[in-house]
Amino acid sequence: MCGIIGYTGKKMNAKDIVLAGLKNLEYRGYDSSGIAVNENGKINLYKSHGKISNLEDRLKGKEILSSTAIAHTRWATHGKPNETNAHPHRCGKVTLVHNGIIENYMELKKELLEKGVTFQSETDTEVACAYINDIYESEKDKIKCLSKACSAFRGSYAFAIIFDDEKDVIYATRKDSPLIVGLSDDGNFAASDVSAILDFTAKYILLEYGEFAKITKDKVTIYNADLKEIEKEVKVATWSATEYKKNGYDHFMLKEINEQPDVIANIFSRYLNDCNYNDIDFLKYDAIHIVACGSAMHAGMVGKYLFQNYANIPVTVDIASEYRYSTQMITPSTLVIIISQSGETADSLAALRLAHSKGATTLGIVNAVGSTIARESDICIYTYAGPEIAVATTKGYTSQVAILSTLVINAMKQKGLLSDELFENIKQDFSNISSNLNHIISKKEDYINVAQKIFDHNDLFFIGRGIDSAVCMEGSLKLKEISYMHSESYAAGELKHGTISLIEKGTPVIAIATNNDLYEKTISNIKETKARGAFAIFITTDNFKNSTFEDFSDISITLPKTTEFVQAIEVSVLLQLIAYETAKLRNCDIDKPKNLAKSVTVE
Ligand code: AGP
Repeated sequence: MCGIIGYTGKKMNAKDIVLAGLKNLEYRGYDSSGIAVNENGKINLYKSHGKISNLEDRLKGKEILSSTAIAHTRWATHGKPNETNAHPHRCGKVTLVHNGIIENYMELKKELLEKGVTFQSETDTEVACAYINDIYESEKDKIKCLSKACSAFRGSYAFAIIFDDEKDVIYATRKDSPLIVGLSDDGNFAASDVSAILDFTAKYILLEYGEFAKITKDKVTIYNADLKEIEKEVKVATWSATEYKKNGYDHFMLKEINEQPDVIANIFSRYLNDCNYNDIDFLKYDAIHIVACGSAMHAGMVGKYLFQNYANIPVTVDIASEYRYSTQMITPSTLVIIISQSGETADSLAALRLAHSKGATTLGIVNAVGSTIARESDICIYTYAGPEIAVATTKGYTSQVAILSTLVINAMKQKGLLSDELFENIKQDFSNISSNLNHIISKKEDYINVAQKIFDHNDLFFIGRGIDSAVCMEGSLKLKEISYMHSESYAAGELKHGTISLIEKGTPVIAIATNNDLYEKTISNIKETKARGAFAIFITTDNFKNSTFEDFSDISITLPKTTEFVQAIEVSVLLQLIAYETAKLRNCDIDKPKNLAKSVTVE
């Protein structure tokens, strides 16, 4: 998703400051970038297609002394990724950068064209810029001007704006797309998220929907939707800039995979020692809806299995982009669980607001502290996994599964379904999770071996039953999004109802069987694929006493048997590493896969 950073302050190297901030936003995914600098009263724009290094090349050798600059990484929504469509955009006296989508930009553009305004780009952002400039022609109070303009915009936006006739002042406002105001002794910032400013300050203000900020080098004024000045809490980021660095790992994804032992162990330790979710009474709801996107939805599928099989609570799981437009039966007796690592995913946020409009209780499982979903949920449980930079989530997903496991345990306690024996086994698994995950991560050769057997194929299948089927969904997505290999996850028992027609000699099939009751049935399904020439990779647990797996698999990997409250996490880490090694062999951009963004803040 697009990244925004603006700086105005005492330093005259505003260009360098915002470029450094842009690099901390690269993880969001982008295809072009640009900067606007106020040089001796003249605002100059520099833009480039592709990586930020191309923009740096454009700026090389230019002695740009400026105390104010705004900059942007663009993830194309309207118009091709190219220099013309890159931000900042400029019209008349207004220059701005934007994250979001102005859905009614065509009708606004028509209005402006009739007034003789001309456009260079294909973007909705340039239309927004021209619209603000048009209003500014008659409304010289900039906050009033922005308020009038934004009231005409439908969709989502976060803007950082500078005006020709007011040097060293940045205006900012937002609706749905996140925006923060950074505060430091050397100057102040507007940015998409805290990562952009952590090299300079940890102090920030969260701008809320409909608020406006006027930012100068030594003062920040916030106005509410009624254009009244208001006081805002100054927050201090608890994580450091180093968390946005690879710290010796080849990729952020590998760093974050390796953080999982601690992240998951901390979640379980917090649950057992101090957070017990007493304010969540599962017995008072007649339905639980889990709503999310992508990997977060896959975590929800694991949660559904656990809720239904252990707490006897029926759960539906929906992808947010469908749920938000469905006639989903949401009532005041529904608990809607929104899962989101970033806490800013547009579809998930819309689902949350739909649930609120129907009187339902919302529970957010979120990683990004202070994010919109976290703030708007009735109850918010943070995963505290720390910043996740790689576009492909790893610790974000497994921490969501871990939280769901603890919620199910709570529900079982409330329903008198948690036996002492099972709880003791669970607690044992919780105490072993860090060493188990570290052991799994250490088996690098196993994953390289699998990767070497699959990386040159274009189609691959993940099959499993029960909770393993849910884990296959995430394993498949991980492989697809970083190695660009097509893969599908399939309930093992379903393959023969059509898709098995795609299995031919050498087709890789990754089969997962960890559930005792379904083990033999999954073996049968693997044999069905082997009979048609598949190359079978079998992932199971060490409690099955089969003499050998060779008669139905080409490669087998066994994991320590645990309760199902942690098994999915352990298998998922193994699948993350298979995907990682495969993407390496295919020379893919592992941390910033093509076409993807870290947080999809547009629908
Ligand atoms: C996961 O690897 C993807 N990056 C993507 O599916 C992600 O899980 C999805 O966009 C949801 O994001 P969120 O958790 O921030 O809401």
